[in-house]
Amino acid sequence: MKLNITCIPGDGIGPEIVKEAKKVLDKVCEKYGHEISYKDVLMGGCSIDAYGVPLTEETIAAAKAADAVLMGSIGGDTSTSPWYKLEPAKRPEAGLLGLRKALNLFANLRPAYLYPELKEACPLKKEEAEKGFDMLIMRELTGGLYFGDRYTKEVDGELVATDTLVYKESEIRRIAIKAFEVARKRRSSVISVDKANVLDSSRLWRKVVEEVKKDYPDVSLSHMLVDNCAMQLVKNPSSFDVVLTENMFGDILSDEASMITGSIGMLPSASLNDSSFGLYEPSHGSAPDIAGKDLANPIATILSAAMMLRYSFNLDKEADAIEEAVKKVLKEGYRTKDLCLNDEDAFEIVGCVKMGDLIAERISG
Ligand code: NAD
Ligand code: IPM
Ligand code: MN
Repeated sequence: MKLNITCIPGDGIGPEIVKEAKKVLDKVCEKYGHEISYKDVLMGGCSIDAYGVPLTEETIAAAKAADAVLMGSIGGDTSTSPWYKLEPAKRPEAGLLGLRKALNLFANLRPAYLYPELKEACPLKKEEAEKGFDMLIMRELTGGLYFGDRYTKEVDGELVATDTLVYKESEIRRIAIKAFEVARKRRSSVISVDKANVLDSSRLWRKVVEEVKKDYPDVSLSHMLVDNCAMQLVKNPSSFDVVLTENMFGDILSDEASMITGSIGMLPSASLNDSSFGLYEPSHGSAPDIAGKDLANPIATILSAAMMLRYSFNLDKEADAIEEAVKKVLKEGYRTKDLCLNDEDAFEIVGCVKMGDLIAERISG
């Protein structure tokens, strides 16, 4: 098969982790007889530096021309980087949000799975880590607070800032359908997370999700308030299968879920529309504090590449080969620094490049 990939390395650790994911993809393609080509384009802070804007028409066109997009991460230190002196629409994050919208990537799949090999890195109670967990956060990605009107104006002598949270029935329905469809291929359980005790948008969310559920009698549905969900993720993570939620809640809950897998450096993601096209990126950011130091964990990006093979190309065996290689490396005791905060002596600590090498070497054909 021929795989035509557009890459957006981005800022901070982005270029470092994308390089390792390409290394692993190259190895998979070599072993399984596929031809892969990459086109690198700029987005985020590096695009601001080169072109004055975080997202150009050329980058959008290159993404649309590809079968799939593999991304690193964008952005800088939001307190110190000059990018954050620009007006909000010209900052790095506006590039990512603009691309998600331009490609209609409304479904963001963020699987949080505790590798048994990483039990000791899980900060939860020992019993919970022993039980393990395997959940999929299905985050709505092109609506809600991120895309509503926002403005700041002076009222009665003081500044008043407004952000609006808007959801249409159609936007809720299409993500709910994705969640029920994917639940059928997993453990057939959807927990929909909202704040229906306060927000109108959440009450509409619940109503539409209930309607969609009628077409999926084989899938169970329950509703959970988002504050309770944040608590249950720590108390009882194995009770979650598919977690369906809106944009902002999904952003926050997925960072929380990532940490109980051992590190934010473990959580991959796929951003999909209704075609086979997708954008694949780790759930974490550009980690400016460790950029350029060979400290980044590339596994979230490497696992995002596996999701790309699975979702955009139907290459399940090849995706399995990547996931198995990651498992092997962890089993053999190799860790990036983020994965062994408490027990550095028990493991062989490696940098980003070495971790990429180790995983690529273990791809079996
Ligand atoms: P972050 O995810 O970049 O970093 C949070 C913490 O996690 C840092 O201590 C960092 O070193 C650590 N970390 C993150 N990824 C890691 C990895 N792969 N290996 C080891 N450690 C890792 O979040 P932040 O500091 O809040 O944001 C930094 C910048 O990233 C901001 O500009 C933000 O807007 C941007 N951001 C971008 C994306 C994206 O591109 N999708 C996602 C989140 C944040
Ligand atoms: C993510 C990031 C983005 C988001 C930012 C960078 C706009 O945090 O992909 O999780 O909030 O969606
Ligand atoms: Mn986030």
